[in-house]
Amino acid sequence: MCGIVGYLGKKQAAPLLLDGLKRLEYRGYDSAGICVLTPQGDLDIVRVVGKIAGLEERLRARPLEGSVALGHSRWATHGRPSEENAHPHTDCKGGVVLVHNGIIENYQELKEGLLKRKHKFRSETDTEVLAHLFEEEISRGNGASETAVVSSVRRVLKQLRGAYSLVVMSKKWGRQIIGIRKDCPLVVGLGAGESLLASDIPALLPFTKNVVFIEDNEIVLLREGRRPVIFNGSGKAVNRPSQEVPWDPLMAEKGGYKHFMHKEIFEGPRSFEDTLRARSYEENLEALLAEAAIRRQEIMRLRRVTILACGTAYHAGMIGEYLFEQWAKLPARAEIASEFRYASRSIEPGTLTVAISQSGETADTIAAMKLCRKTSASVTMGIVNQIGSTLTRQTRGTLYTRCGPEIGVASTKAFVAQLAALYLLVLGIARVRGAIAPVQFKEITRELCEIPNKLRWVLQETEPRVMALAQEFQQAKGFLYLGRHLLYPVALEGALKLKEISYIHAEGYAAGEMKHGPIALIDSEMPVFCLAPRSSLIYEKMRSNMEEARARGARIIAVVTKGDRSLDKIAHQTIVTPVLKHEEFEPVLAAAVTQLFAYHVARLKGLDVDQPRNLAKSVTVE
Ligand code: M6R
Repeated sequence: MCGIVGYLGKKQAAPLLLDGLKRLEYRGYDSAGICVLTPQGDLDIVRVVGKIAGLEERLRARPLEGSVALGHSRWATHGRPSEENAHPHTDCKGGVVLVHNGIIENYQELKEGLLKRKHKFRSETDTEVLAHLFEEEISRGNGASETAVVSSVRRVLKQLRGAYSLVVMSKKWGRQIIGIRKDCPLVVGLGAGESLLASDIPALLPFTKNVVFIEDNEIVLLREGRRPVIFNGSGKAVNRPSQEVPWDPLMAEKGGYKHFMHKEIFEGPRSFEDTLRARSYEENLEALLAEAAIRRQEIMRLRRVTILACGTAYHAGMIGEYLFEQWAKLPARAEIASEFRYASRSIEPGTLTVAISQSGETADTIAAMKLCRKTSASVTMGIVNQIGSTLTRQTRGTLYTRCGPEIGVASTKAFVAQLAALYLLVLGIARVRGAIAPVQFKEITRELCEIPNKLRWVLQETEPRVMALAQEFQQAKGFLYLGRHLLYPVALEGALKLKEISYIHAEGYAAGEMKHGPIALIDSEMPVFCLAPRSSLIYEKMRSNMEEARARGARIIAVVTKGDRSLDKIAHQTIVTPVLKHEEFEPVLAAAVTQLFAYHVARLKGLDVDQPRNLAKSVTVE
């Protein structure tokens, strides 16, 4: 979950790493630190508790000089957020310094051994153990040659269990940096006369779009004046060409918005549109299937679909479940990845397994997918946003969502784009299986292509009203979100958005379940957010549920279809969305309203919208 960066070049490194860390702060913000190799060959470290802004202030008072450096922003796992526990960590002699993302599972055992060998520890972290191990192995090693460096590193790695990406420097190595990857992301950026390392692409974008993804169990050596060299697990050099990331550096900036989340909500229409581009028409079908890496014969043999995801991506997956059943007539089940990996589900022959993830680094989703891959019966694919991420290497095919980097911890545009990818995938599969006729396919895709503009309309037209509602309800102690059928997952997603950024307790419920318990919560203090667009088949039922809530004194905010005045008397306030021919697209429009509402409540409460407490953008540990 932590952000790590490294730099080797000719420029002053600390300001560059500070900028990189700011771009990775969504990965964790409990503490931060930078270490430079000074021109005199010493290691100079600055660490602070809290956010990067604190580190920036500290560096203003005490600038670091050096053009080889590493940095870290932490999401605490082992040891509370404190200066001692902040990265970078060093060994007792201060000869080695490193930053780490991940967890060293056998650190206790390793620490006991080191204590017996008279090492002294300053922190409670698993990471510090690594600094001591490196120091031992480097002292045992034979200088700073490529062979000596790599063999010292390999001797350390042999002792470790767990998941990690590491950036390491040593006084003995001089102007060289090592990067290591196992089950946590690491990417190299190739600049002009400089090389960088980062856990995510956004940190590299101001310097270069030219990147090389490091694979599991690989070591990369950054050295002065030459291209970084990658070594595989057996120490052999690997020749991997670089690739260009199709992301603009501006995508990772706020662009005039106060918060990334607000900007990203408004990027929803563009993300949806870009995800559809050159994929939505019948003539694009072959290309779409090629990206997803599913053959027509396999599609014909499909018997069911399993969708694996966490959080917001899981809610998109739940909508996918309805779509597969409605359009492709395939039984589908969305599974919470963290539950799936410990349930004794069997993947039967003829199962298509789809993992959905913005980051492509969510540990549970990756583990669940690995489990599925063990059974050769499953055809696997991912719907992923982060280019080159771990998940993309675990699946046979990847249908990329084209959102650009999502920085706000609350996922918004990624959800919208995940829906776009699901529409494409399910329609494609339905078409190949003959579950929908060519005319129907054309009609649905026509409306699919109109969704970005309808979404733009929703965002622009409803925002003033949503802001007024946010003002009115910002003090609410709790919220109930109700929806049915395709809008039930949106109710869950709306509730998740509100709780994660505004810290108001919210529950999403299938409206039909209200009478089975949650109705007991309803009174004038419990506002209810109802998703009740007219095109929905279950409109009448939803209306009855709203009547029942109102009869118990609830103030109701209802998302309704433009022109439908029949809910005006039941709802306290309505927010209108455009008329749709196909109810399957309602989730996109309704979700946008719930995103805006959560955003404005949190903003009005003066909370840290982009970096809510206790959270990190990618949950790369279990
Ligand atoms: O990167 P992923 O899509 O795999 O992340 C999954 C969840 O961690 C993520 O959606 C999380 O629930 C968000 N904070 C929700 O806004």
